[in-house]
Amino acid sequence: MTILVTGSSGFIGSNLIRFFQKKNIKFFGVDKVFNPYFKIKNFAKFNLNNKSEILRLFRKQKIKKVIHLAALPGFVNCHKKPKKAYEDNVSATLNLLTACKSFGIKDIIVASSMGVNNFYKNPSIYALTKIACENICRSFNKIYKMNIKICKISNVFGPYSLHKLSSVHAFIKQIINNKKIQIHKKGMQERDFIFVEDVCKKLYLSLNSRKPFEEFKINNNRYLRIIDLLHILNKISKKTISYEFVKTPSGYDDTVYNKKILKEKKDLTKKFAITYNWYKNTYNIK
Ligand SMILES: NC(=O)c1ccc[n+]([C@@H]2O[C@H](COP(=O)([O-])OP(=O)(O)OC[C@H]3O[C@@H](n4cnc5c(N)ncnc54)[C@H](O)[C@@H]3O)[C@@H](O)[C@H]2O)c1
Repeated sequence: MTILVTGSSGFIGSNLIRFFQKKNIKFFGVDKVFNPYFKIKNFAKFNLNNKSEILRLFRKQKIKKVIHLAALPGFVNCHKKPKKAYEDNVSATLNLLTACKSFGIKDIIVASSMGVNNFYKNPSIYALTKIACENICRSFNKIYKMNIKICKISNVFGPYSLHKLSSVHAFIKQIINNKKIQIHKKGMQERDFIFVEDVCKKLYLSLNSRKPFEEFKINNNRYLRIIDLLHILNKISKKTISYEFVKTPSGYDDTVYNKKILKEKKDLTKKFAITYNWYKNTYNIK
């Protein structure tokens, strides 16, 4: 049984490929770019908007299950490029699921984001495209009797993430480069951080779960203030980080939820340290 991983050159995709390799799980990766960190043997480079390429792949490989991660993620990316967001998030998903339907591939996980829950209060192009994807999944499940699971993921951090702009990755890069960190809203906004390895484990378990469910979350359900994240990274890096408060640029979601604030930070601190050390060993200090 081969699991297709779309977006295998991206952040979560790279970590999932590593996870599958360690566990000897058979996979096939697809992405429109090559993986920047390591070579993948079972890989095809094409754009999921090219339907004939997907069909050709399904004819050649015995794909039984799919984890669909390919997307243009993030509020800022989608805000800057709405058409690309539509193509990579909505159109590519529709293409992939239509091809899956033709080949009887029914066990599929489609990545979505916890960030989209706020759409009606705080509309954004990213959430718009993810909600469209979620509704495509729900419709395919109902109409074509498929088993597509929508996976709402919170704020992921970890290795293989040099291109990521989210707070943990951005802060670590700035700390390593001795740059001043810019903080929105006095750092009072909370984030539900989750380590990428925990995401990979949950994706794999959920793909193989026999229980019928259409939607699930991958999160910690415990929140950390951005300013507290900075203090943790301060300790890990043993540097005195300089920062300034700035106005939130448009496109960012900086809602302050006032959720359950994380008290016990030990477990998360260890995982932030793994990420920091990965950057220190990988990242070219400019
Ligand atoms: N990283 C997070 O914190 C987070 C949080 C919530 C949800 N998600 C979701 O998880 C998924 C993976 O996120 P990520 O952080 O790994 O993103 P990423 O940008 O690192 O990786 C996405 C990959 O998809 C590929 N891709 C995009 N459009 C494609 C297309 N049309 N055809 C083929 N390949 C294409 C890109 O080249 C890229 O390598 C996304 O759906 C994202 O919305 C991520």
